[in-house]
Amino acid sequence: MARILITSALPYINGVKHLGNLAGSMLPADVYARAMRLLGHDVLYICATDEHGTPAELAAQEAGISVSEYCDKMHDAQKQAGANFKMSYDYFGRSSAPSNHELTQHFAQILEDNGLIEERVSKQVYSNADGRFLPDRYVEGTCPNCDFEKARGDQCDNCGKLLDPVELINPYSSVSGSHDVEVRETNHLYLKQSAMSDRLRAWVDKAEGWPPLATSIAYKWLDEGLLDRAITRDLKWGIPVTDKTGNRRKGFENKVFYVWFDAPIEYIAATQDWATETGGNWESWWRTDKGADDVHYVQFMGKDNVAFHTLSFPTTIIGSGEPWKLVDSLKAFNWVTWYGGKFSTSNKRGVFMDQAIEIAPSDYWRWHLMANAPESDDAAFTWEEFRAGINSDLANVLGNFVNRITKYTVSKFDGKLPSGGEPGKAEAALISELETRIPAMIEFYETREFRKAMAETRAIWAAGNDYLTQAAPWSAYKTDVDKAAIGVRYGLNLAALFGIIAQPIIPDAAEKILDALGIPQENRTWNFGDYSGIKDLVDALPHGLEIRPPDMLFHKIEETDVEAWSLRFGGPSV
Ligand code: MF3
Ligand code: ZN
Repeated sequence: MARILITSALPYINGVKHLGNLAGSMLPADVYARAMRLLGHDVLYICATDEHGTPAELAAQEAGISVSEYCDKMHDAQKQAGANFKMSYDYFGRSSAPSNHELTQHFAQILEDNGLIEERVSKQVYSNADGRFLPDRYVEGTCPNCDFEKARGDQCDNCGKLLDPVELINPYSSVSGSHDVEVRETNHLYLKQSAMSDRLRAWVDKAEGWPPLATSIAYKWLDEGLLDRAITRDLKWGIPVTDKTGNRRKGFENKVFYVWFDAPIEYIAATQDWATETGGNWESWWRTDKGADDVHYVQFMGKDNVAFHTLSFPTTIIGSGEPWKLVDSLKAFNWVTWYGGKFSTSNKRGVFMDQAIEIAPSDYWRWHLMANAPESDDAAFTWEEFRAGINSDLANVLGNFVNRITKYTVSKFDGKLPSGGEPGKAEAALISELETRIPAMIEFYETREFRKAMAETRAIWAAGNDYLTQAAPWSAYKTDVDKAAIGVRYGLNLAALFGIIAQPIIPDAAEKILDALGIPQENRTWNFGDYSGIKDLVDALPHGLEIRPPDMLFHKIEETDVEAWSLRFGGPSV
């Protein structure tokens, strides 16, 4: 048994997330957490809302409420959305929590003590109309390189040049459109990442269990040379910059920490809050001097988050010189696209978590998004493929199998698992297929290769269907009830196995199946031992066990559904 700490990138607070966000961090982390728990590991899965920064302030302004009210509301909404999608978080925290204030201030203090923080003056665009300094991407103007008139402060979308917002000609605020902007000097705390470069590289060199996507991003940044970065901002909402006495630092009375500085620290702070609430021991998960050296820490994130997790956050951790746990394995995802394009709230393209749950049960989304996880490349979501996958994999392959065999048991065997009959060739073929596929499936979970884990799961379901077609108890019954009995008995055991392996992906349907078959909780784990027992697994249920057909497992998705959803959410032709 191992101890596995799992975090998924913290969803930003400014609205309920779309399916792409779900598929790129929270959902795979949840599926992984569930699988590892089934294998008997001691798992702690932590997530939270990421609540600071300009976008939060602007979203609150637009909603006409205070930022703290806005964050309260959106935190609850995201927590609910997570619950609706059956996220099995051990704790879902908030980066605005007092624990994170304290810990973020602690890290800043110790980094400064270690000579890694320095006050510097920089030039930044201030908008008089908005009454705020503008983050780079909220300044627009004419590109000094190509004369494009709508270049963003961080980058020109026309010529691709990376920009400094103070270079823009005729700059204006994209928040208000106002041209009443000026360049002002402002002082900030800088984290000297450049000084940490060698130590970071040495650490990345040692990394195991990072996918190529993550390693290559980390090396790209290291090779280009790490820049020192400002870890404070001129904002009201956020974690105040304090001095050693705990008062606001002089000259920083109107400044807070940069959201990307405090957000990952919330992984730890949320664990502290989990401990406070449950009586758990947070240090045993995070402090290598307090037992966390035997923890395996796995992070899940989209590819845009990789540099922050492989370099920025480790700078904080390593730079502190304190015995904190660093990430061991990391799983990064590409994008889920909407028919090859971007999800867009403003253009009504794409489905958001709250809408998704209105039109189909969470299991359907969980299955589809995991079976098509954007692992080696971006993955396009289309309604047509959603429909085809659900109808075939869930409704036909899994759902029909369970319905058919349980209903048949009721009609011909009095609803009781029959004894009688001897296993023959069909049973031997089935067992040998399971003997390779079950270990393969488990290994793909362990290596976090989700598409492959899903493919094995589907193949196991399909193998059961093939078996039943061969054994054909319904025809055997007419001449040889014992022969029918073994087909039914294996079929029911397979239905239980199908439910057991489906648990991480489609927990609701799995539970319905296992309840209908009367499988006690303690027999729902993945305790397959050395797999020599797989032959017993297909005849494990007690003979005479009373079963019932489960409630409808999956409804088929109709063409008319796809038409209606395309109209409502946008599709190829919209
Ligand atoms: N909120 C960020 C995003 O949506 C992710 C933050 S991850 C954390 O991209 F580690 F910083 F918390
Ligand atoms: Zn340009």
